[in-house]
Amino acid sequence: MRLPENDPKSVILRNRLAYGRIAAEWERRQEMDYDHGFHEQCRALFLSHLKGIRVLDAGCGLGLDSLAFAAAGLQVAASDIAEEFLPLIRRKQPRIGLAAMDLTAPCFRAGCFDGIFACASFLHVPHELVEQTLSGFVRMLASGGILFLHHVESSRGLSEYRIDELLIPDNPAVCFCHTEQQLSALLASAGLHVLAVGRLKPSKYPSPCADRNSLVPYQMIACKPVS
Ligand SMILES: C[S@@+](CC[C@H](N)C(=O)[O-])C[C@H]1O[C@@H](n2cnc3c(N)ncnc32)[C@H](O)[C@@H]1O
Repeated sequence: MRLPENDPKSVILRNRLAYGRIAAEWERRQEMDYDHGFHEQCRALFLSHLKGIRVLDAGCGLGLDSLAFAAAGLQVAASDIAEEFLPLIRRKQPRIGLAAMDLTAPCFRAGCFDGIFACASFLHVPHELVEQTLSGFVRMLASGGILFLHHVESSRGLSEYRIDELLIPDNPAVCFCHTEQQLSALLASAGLHVLAVGRLKPSKYPSPCADRNSLVPYQMIACKPVS
């Protein structure tokens, strides 16, 4: 049976296909396109709150944040729904644990991470699946563990938007937005306590997509209370 196009599971599948298609091309363009400065700032914000060394890079893409965490001596697992990314990371750093994992159905055991770093990946989670995604994150975090989300809100009130050409023509992906207030409330109802909000912006901000959809990036760091 075919699922309707806007069914959350179809959206996840389409996003997976879109990223799977571009993995090799994205790696080829990495030197030119990757925003090292912005990612460094995001990692620094995450690390300033991290207590412990076990980190999950959730929705890792090319895994450049995973590689930087590993180089800093952290114990890193990298996961992405598009498994095409995983061998690219293994080639560069065989010590990073790898998993093909959907953010909405996490596969790691309870309490096994001190920090989860989700940079621009949670924005692909359909609204209907946000609650279960956040409870999955909470379950994987150790007591006192932290969650980092780099996310977007739309200043014109969009709750979702579409990218028609993700890196290559005719390669659509769907993204979802929350205001800071909405995301704080969702984190609170998942049992997380917001520690900090960042206002870091990519160096080429606004991109044509951000401009079209009036997207404002922000980062949220939340902590699982110490039990
Ligand atoms: C914008 S990229 C960000 C990649 C990386 N975190 C970075 O900042 O460079 C979004 C990533 O999220 C992954 N993704 C999208 N939907 C996902 C899902 N439901 N579960 C896990 N990963 C997902 C994509 O495959 C892609 O690698």
